[in-house]
Amino acid sequence: MRKGFLAVGAVGLLTLGSLTACGNDSDGDKAGSDKTPKIGVILPDSTSSVRWETADRKFLEEAFKAANVDSVIENAQGDKNAFQTIADQMITSGVTVLMIVNLDSGTGKAVLDKAKSQGVATIDYDRLTLGGSAEYYVSFDNEAVGKLQGEGLVKCLTDAKVQKPAIAYLNGSPTDNNATLFRNGYDSVLKPKFDAGEYTQVADDSVPAWDNTQAATIFEQQLTRTGGKIDGVLSANDGLGNAVISVLKKNKLNGKVPVTGQDADPQALQNILAGDQCMTVYKAVKKEADAAAELAIALAKGERKETGQTVKDPEGGRDVPSVLLTPVAIYKENVKDVIADGYVAKEQVCTGNFAKLCTDAGIS
Ligand code: BGC
Repeated sequence: MRKGFLAVGAVGLLTLGSLTACGNDSDGDKAGSDKTPKIGVILPDSTSSVRWETADRKFLEEAFKAANVDSVIENAQGDKNAFQTIADQMITSGVTVLMIVNLDSGTGKAVLDKAKSQGVATIDYDRLTLGGSAEYYVSFDNEAVGKLQGEGLVKCLTDAKVQKPAIAYLNGSPTDNNATLFRNGYDSVLKPKFDAGEYTQVADDSVPAWDNTQAATIFEQQLTRTGGKIDGVLSANDGLGNAVISVLKKNKLNGKVPVTGQDADPQALQNILAGDQCMTVYKAVKKEADAAAELAIALAKGERKETGQTVKDPEGGRDVPSVLLTPVAIYKENVKDVIADGYVAKEQVCTGNFAKLCTDAGIS
């Protein structure tokens, strides 16, 4: 992943139009070139993050529609068997390209390999399938996401002048390669502080399948184990962060303990405006969907595009042609940017008591 991480500056400059076409493949791998293009997408669930149904589905649909390409988007609802069944059905129904957000690398790999054996080209969307065989990987620079989270937590603790803070980690799903990358990112900021004795790490747990309900239970246990002595929570996404905040509220600790997140959920933007959440990380999913759709459409036509970057699959050892977009840290001051970008509507955030907080934060 190092390679992808270092190359992010260059990728930030990539506009979608600059993906260069390499023309028809001549080595016989003509996935779909002689069939009517049809793109299948499998989303992972609708509960680990609201993004999948509210952003990814919408932006992918829009991109395929704009290109006049036939598509089908399904959601596996966190069920690995359903994931495989949907993939089988899509292959049978004649999709020429399959784009997946895997639930874990094992089932992801099985699906990718099967698609390949049937002449269907594949794309890893957002999550890299370790040991997989996808033609492309389209995501954000996920180590950079984690780094922004680590830096955000440090900023909020410094602003609050907390001495020798006790930190709890609430990591993402152990079967999601992104969770590993996020952790690499926040560890790069926080571990030196633990090692220097500036900060103490008092808890470190992963949340299976990013399950928000389990996250609340796990955080409750962290709080009990530490006798309530947690000064900051590195939570890997907004859903987990909101679960932490709900527990902090019960203990009248919300607003006193900075919590991080990711995805710029409407709920998280409200938590930030209310002072209950330190920050989130905005990933412009429209850009991710547009890049993936552009590559999928090229594959469906039997073409290859040069992405200008690769990511090393640590399990399969392959250099996977990739597009890695740049994430942005969001604090109270720039919540307005997420709304101005059209990712979240003002009406989703500035309701009831939040109307005044929105005005104060310059959201008009
Ligand atoms: C995605 C995050 C999301 C999480 C849970 C990760 O792979 O990159 O945006 O919050 O999965 O769905």
